[in-house]
Amino acid sequence: MRVKNLTLRNFRNYREQSISFSPATNIICGNNANGKTNILEAIYIFGYGKSCRAKSDDEMIRFGCGSSWVTMEFESGGREFTAVMNLSGDGRKSFTVNNIPVKRLSRLMSYFHAVLFSPDDLTLVKGSPSARRRFMDAAICRLYPNYFSALSEYQKAASEKNILLKQLKKAGKKSDEYLSVWNEQLAASAERIMEYRRSFVSELAGFAAKIQKDISSEELKTAYEPSLKQDDKESILAFLEENQRREIEAASMRYGIQRDDISIFISDRDARLFASQGQQRTAALAFKIAEADYVFSKTEEYPVLLLDDILSELDIERRKYLWERILDKQVMITCTDTDIFENRRGAKLFTVNSGTVTVSGP
Ligand SMILES: Nc1ncnc2c1ncn2[C@@H]1O[C@H](COP(=O)(O)OP(=O)(O)O)[C@@H](O)[C@H]1O
Ligand SMILES: [Mg+2]
Repeated sequence: MRVKNLTLRNFRNYREQSISFSPATNIICGNNANGKTNILEAIYIFGYGKSCRAKSDDEMIRFGCGSSWVTMEFESGGREFTAVMNLSGDGRKSFTVNNIPVKRLSRLMSYFHAVLFSPDDLTLVKGSPSARRRFMDAAICRLYPNYFSALSEYQKAASEKNILLKQLKKAGKKSDEYLSVWNEQLAASAERIMEYRRSFVSELAGFAAKIQKDISSEELKTAYEPSLKQDDKESILAFLEENQRREIEAASMRYGIQRDDISIFISDRDARLFASQGQQRTAALAFKIAEADYVFSKTEEYPVLLLDDILSELDIERRKYLWERILDKQVMITCTDTDIFENRRGAKLFTVNSGTVTVSGP
């Protein structure tokens, strides 16, 4: 997977900017708030169908402008693609790939893969379970459209069930036949979702353990922790039915995949509670590299790596490890100072200044 050219029109603080990337390392350097992350964001969108940070799509349209375009030329599996994103200014975004409209996000995600590394990755280890669920969902969704649909079906049924639970509680009722309708749908989707999550985490765990060992000789153990102990549709349904009263009492769902987590142990201790900041950072880095390794194992192509301001946060050992691992990959690295590179290894160097990008080397 290689990004060749990126053109931004009225995107964030860019009026009109084209960037030609090296197929290997690209270093994007500039002071704060000049537009470095905006470039990574534009690339990221083609891998995930949405921004890594915008709450609404129109936020990305350049202030004072009506609409925005991003064009990305990339190569995948020996084929050339041109993907275009248009933000039309009325809250909608649309994509084309090789001039053909792409309506489904899952379809878009099948063309291009990127993995973003950012200082926020630490929340994978330190943060609440929701951060780890988001990580699982994003990673699995873009490879398996069926997971994406199971998740959407689950979410729809869950929100209907929550509305019903509130109504039942208010009416002082103890049961309702419609609850079983939603429970059946939830049990069916939950079975599929759990299967995907279990296999994803077990594969990811293997990659991450190896990386942690290579960096710090520590043992990293990661496991899927489903909230439901049952794993087939019938027993999930039976469990939900048995616990109906508790859910009505609480007026919201108490059980289901929306409460899943991933456990992380470093040298047999719970990393959330006992790991040092350095160990947590190593584990977060291990997870992200593992995510890229996982994509490679499924698609036989390494995703494009987007490293947003993370090198300056890593100590020398971790930086060295990462630097070796990305040697033959395409990587876009943002930084405020090129002094952090002991050896730039012929990387293409860009300087960003208030929404203008210039090539300043190798
Ligand atoms: N919709 C927008 N229109 C114009 N400028 C924007 C828009 N959104 C963000 N910006 C500007 O982009 C800059 C931040 O860009 P960013 O890529 O996050 O910077 P950094 O170089 O620190 O990574 C800020 O100056 C901000 O005002
Ligand atoms: Mg930034």
